[in-house]
Amino acid sequence: AAPEMVKFEAVGASKNVALITLNRPKALNALCNQLMTELRDLLQRLDADKSIGAIVITGSERAFAAGADIKEMKDREFSSTYSSRFLEDWCAVSDVNKPVIAAVNGFALGGGCELALMCDIIYAGDKAQFGQPEINIGTIPGAGGTQRWARVAGKSVAMEVCLTGERMGAQEAKEVGIVSKVFPAAECVPAAIKLGEKIAAQSPLIVQMCKEGVNRAFETTLREGLHVERRLFHATFATVDRKEGMRAFAEKRKPQWKAE
Ligand code: HXC
Repeated sequence: AAPEMVKFEAVGASKNVALITLNRPKALNALCNQLMTELRDLLQRLDADKSIGAIVITGSERAFAAGADIKEMKDREFSSTYSSRFLEDWCAVSDVNKPVIAAVNGFALGGGCELALMCDIIYAGDKAQFGQPEINIGTIPGAGGTQRWARVAGKSVAMEVCLTGERMGAQEAKEVGIVSKVFPAAECVPAAIKLGEKIAAQSPLIVQMCKEGVNRAFETTLREGLHVERRLFHATFATVDRKEGMRAFAEKRKPQWKAE
């Protein structure tokens, strides 16, 4: 069946950037099971689609996503929540090989903030609000909030955000390192698409290897991470695109990437 809660469009001059729009406006894009299943299926399909070089995820001007669906969660019991490994499948978003950019306007709260943090790069509109309000409803972040805030913004900021449930504006989110750039709201998505185009113009193979390297920094020790980076770097020497890139430089021309 065609997805209902996520919209997809190929955008950019070469139509090689996938723009995914979360589309459940009545609930401020609350991330119910259906929406997350549709998003996961779409991301998996786009990850395998050779015509796509980067993915942008956005919501509406009012809300990127206001969190997991509280109404869907309210009657859950521990036993089934535990045994069904509730939320484990959200990792699919961080398992995408292609670069994923979040273009955040409005509320990015709870699971919505965690979804943005699973992306590789976050651009924010100036009215964006980030937060982990789970504490206000008697629970805690469950899709990476305690971990990713801590790794990106440090302990003090992570504790404050998670323990108070208070929201943080776009500028502050940039200051603490969650967000890389802030734009006037209407310019956020176009800027994210431009960024996607810039990345999609590189060798898709090398882009994925580079992303794998950066991601390792969040998973391991410096020593292990440096080892992985060096091996990935060595591996680029087995590719057609590395040869082409260096030859093109020496020949003063633009490289023609083959994704090989
Ligand atoms: C279900 C939600 C929702 C949510 C908003 N809505 N957030 N429904 N789950 N997380 C619904 C409202 O019930 C309402 O539906 C409609 O969207 C519009 O929201 P309002 O509250 O009327 O809008 P507003 O007054 O502007 O307030 C916006 C808001 C507020 C500040 C974002 O909606 C809010 O606090 N939402 C909950 C935020 C939150 O706690 N998120 C964390 C969820 S827990 P009706 O039918 O009344 O019009 C979580 C757990 C993470 O994410 C675990 C890992 C995933």
